[in-house]
Amino acid sequence: MTAEPYKIKMVEPIRLKSHADRLRAIAQAGYNTFLLRSEDVYIDLLTDSGTNAMSDRQWAGMMLGDESYAGARNFYHLQRAVREVYGFRHLVPTHQGRAAEHITSQLRIKPGQFVPMNMYFTTTREHVERAGGRFVDCIVDSAHDPTSDDPFKGNVDIAKLQRLADANGPESIAYISLAPAVNMAGGQPMSMANVEQVARWAEPHGIPIIFDATRAVENAYLIQQREPGYQNVTVRTILKKMMALGEGCTMSSKKDNLVNIGGFLATDNEEFFAAAKEMVVVFEGLHTYGGMAGRDMEAVARGIYEMVDDAYIASRVGQVHYLGRQLADAGVPIVTPVGGHAVFVDADRFLAHLRPEAFRAQSLAAALYTDSGVRAMERGRVSAGRDHGSGENRRPQLETVRLTIPRRVYSNLHMDYVAQSCIDLYQDRKQITGLRMVYEPASLRFFQARFEPR
Ligand code: F0G
Repeated sequence: MTAEPYKIKMVEPIRLKSHADRLRAIAQAGYNTFLLRSEDVYIDLLTDSGTNAMSDRQWAGMMLGDESYAGARNFYHLQRAVREVYGFRHLVPTHQGRAAEHITSQLRIKPGQFVPMNMYFTTTREHVERAGGRFVDCIVDSAHDPTSDDPFKGNVDIAKLQRLADANGPESIAYISLAPAVNMAGGQPMSMANVEQVARWAEPHGIPIIFDATRAVENAYLIQQREPGYQNVTVRTILKKMMALGEGCTMSSKKDNLVNIGGFLATDNEEFFAAAKEMVVVFEGLHTYGGMAGRDMEAVARGIYEMVDDAYIASRVGQVHYLGRQLADAGVPIVTPVGGHAVFVDADRFLAHLRPEAFRAQSLAAALYTDSGVRAMERGRVSAGRDHGSGENRRPQLETVRLTIPRRVYSNLHMDYVAQSCIDLYQDRKQITGLRMVYEPASLRFFQARFEPR
């Protein structure tokens, strides 16, 4: 057994508000955990995005920010880190991941084209659709089954890609978007064998692969743990081998890269790079900072080297599994196997006494907060939104609440508290009565929607 490969040198106090205060806070937030104030939250598992604790080396790097408008030295540090660790030659910094998605979608999709993915992510699909593209879910069926024990639920089903190409012609496919450790399926990994298979299929058709590399390191670690032949390969080597199968990536640095803000687009495609550089100056900033301060680029550059340390990543994913094991052992229904960044509670089984129209996952997230001050996130039908064409509510098969673990932030005692809260709530689940949506924004509705108790 080993403990965390770091020690703590700065702390931020947190406080559990009273039950009466929590009841008031969640009502004021329209029963949407996104609308809570963080000071009303005890343990914040809303997201692993931008919530990381930086290292002393990263903070020291913040003092070395070169805030020149053009050609800051930190840009070149970041470029070197991306070249060495991800392997892509060209870098376009952006303020966060969705900005890189915006640029990629606008430049690479002709209206009417398809973008197959291994399950949607909210912002990724939104940008594909805004560019006139059509998202197609090509993930393996097991990804939609919360109880399947498939170790690689993030894999692409090649037959689904083939059917898309047969029906519409391969030229109708703009690119294949691959998200390692696919978020909405539960942080589920792709196997290296599967990525290789997708690349072999795509190459003769001339269809590029563009990764959403947001959590590719967590995926690389799960490959090391689960895929035969990789036990003795470093996470850094696995990551680079996987990225070499794509033409480029978009990245939300707020996850794997261990920072609080930032992102980038990286590619080996010269034409794409030239066009992206033109576009980034319109929407983000000059192509050597793209919406980030010099100090932020330095923190990302340093985070990139830290994230591929095998001891770090084993401890990070190990903590997620530590929480998952406690819930599973107590019989709380969760998505299995546990993935890289979060434990996904299966709200359909947890709140089987409610009708799906009562927004089981939204209700469960609100109840968990009221009960214990733990903030989680709905990842179910509210997040899935409506079909842009028909206006109908989408019906994802997974109706989950995500307990997302920030990197290097909480101790395992915090995890014990979260586990006990979920277990207690599971015992009392019949008291949860469901919600009705009373305000619904037109896009990415989960961020700002409001609800009332039924
Ligand atoms: N891709 C994936 C797989 C993501 O999980 C996210 C963000 C993005 C892209 C967008 O990146 O936030 O930097 O613009 N996911 C966060 C989450 C918001 O909570 O899962 P961004």
